[in-house]
Amino acid sequence: MDKKKLGFTTRQIHGEGHDKPMYAHVMPIFQTSTFSFESPEHGADLFAGKCKGHIYTRLGNPTTEALERTLANLEGGDDAAVFASGLAAVHGVFLPFVKVGDHIVSGDTLYGPCLNMIGGTFAKWGIKSTFVDTSDLDAVRNAITPDTKFCFFESPANPTNRVTDIVAVSEICHEKGVKVVVDNTFATPFNQRPLEFGADIVMHSATKYLNGHGDVIAGCLIGSEDDIAAIRHFRGNFGSNISPFDSFLFLRGLKTLSMRMEVHNKNGLAVAKYLESHPDVETVSYPGLPSHPNHEVAKKQMSGFGGMIAFELKGGFETAKEVQKHTEIIILAVSLGTIDSLIQHPASMTHSKVSKELRDQQGLTDSLVRISVGCEDAEDLIADLDQAIAKSKAAVGV
Ligand SMILES: Cc1ncc(COP(=O)(O)O)c(C=O)c1O
Repeated sequence: MDKKKLGFTTRQIHGEGHDKPMYAHVMPIFQTSTFSFESPEHGADLFAGKCKGHIYTRLGNPTTEALERTLANLEGGDDAAVFASGLAAVHGVFLPFVKVGDHIVSGDTLYGPCLNMIGGTFAKWGIKSTFVDTSDLDAVRNAITPDTKFCFFESPANPTNRVTDIVAVSEICHEKGVKVVVDNTFATPFNQRPLEFGADIVMHSATKYLNGHGDVIAGCLIGSEDDIAAIRHFRGNFGSNISPFDSFLFLRGLKTLSMRMEVHNKNGLAVAKYLESHPDVETVSYPGLPSHPNHEVAKKQMSGFGGMIAFELKGGFETAKEVQKHTEIIILAVSLGTIDSLIQHPASMTHSKVSKELRDQQGLTDSLVRISVGCEDAEDLIADLDQAIAKSKAAVGV
């Protein structure tokens, strides 16, 4: 059989391969920090890269490698490297390649700590950055300087759901020798595969949809053999590897990604349509709605629109705060992409460390509420939001 022609679900289940140790059906957890050598010569050959095998779990582990093979297969890359968190993957994509004086063009709508890493920590180390609206192609073009090495953006972006045209940005960047990195956390490879649209490296906070069950913190990078080899070497030097147990949980969650995403897509659209029709809702941002400013681009590069919705209620900040007190099924918590639904307030939570000026520039207002629509029955989620909006309206008096 031509394995490259297998469907997404078959590949998410079998992408790791069948040659498991000791004929195990499921890839076991290799809960070991180190591996023994057959002889001094064998150890020396492994270190010299003259033969394949395992040395020490910070450098590589069979459970993690099974996961990496599956991820590379699903995103359509040559190889993948898994990290201890999404943020570890963000520093892991830049630091092997940049030096003092280099420059990064970054989307200005990013998960708050990613903005702070690139604009704060990296700046202190002499790595320059410019933050732009990457859905504006002229802004991207104008931000590139002779020192630019990377263009990094989330699409859809956290939390406002801004969508960037991956093909167009990749063309602009490649003309200038700039590598494109897409944070594909919100979309997942089930809905969007940035490498097919010209991106060089895909990044995920796997804590979210890829694992899907809210029990792991993890990140990953997928790209060409050479890029991932450099990234893996860096990961070994910096010690930002995932543990074997977390790799096992991540791989187990990944095997149901397509089934979960089909429900997230269906529920996300149903809840977004409900919110858009609600008289007490001021704005709804969901890439699957024709009212979304980047809906046409989203349709071009996404096959489904996921479960992430940003909305504003009439009554501003007070109602935004209030509605979170009254949901009975939807859980008040940060994070996203889990099978259960979550609600949070970005301005006071996930994006609270981003300056007010930058938040305003991104349309991340104080009244914006973000929901991660889970896999429950859509009608129950809509009923939960309906009663919570009614209670918050009564409490605030709008
Ligand atoms: C889009 C996006 N990228 C990166 C991260 C960071 O990932 P982690 O929390 O796994 O370090 C997050 C976390 O919420 C995120 O939403």
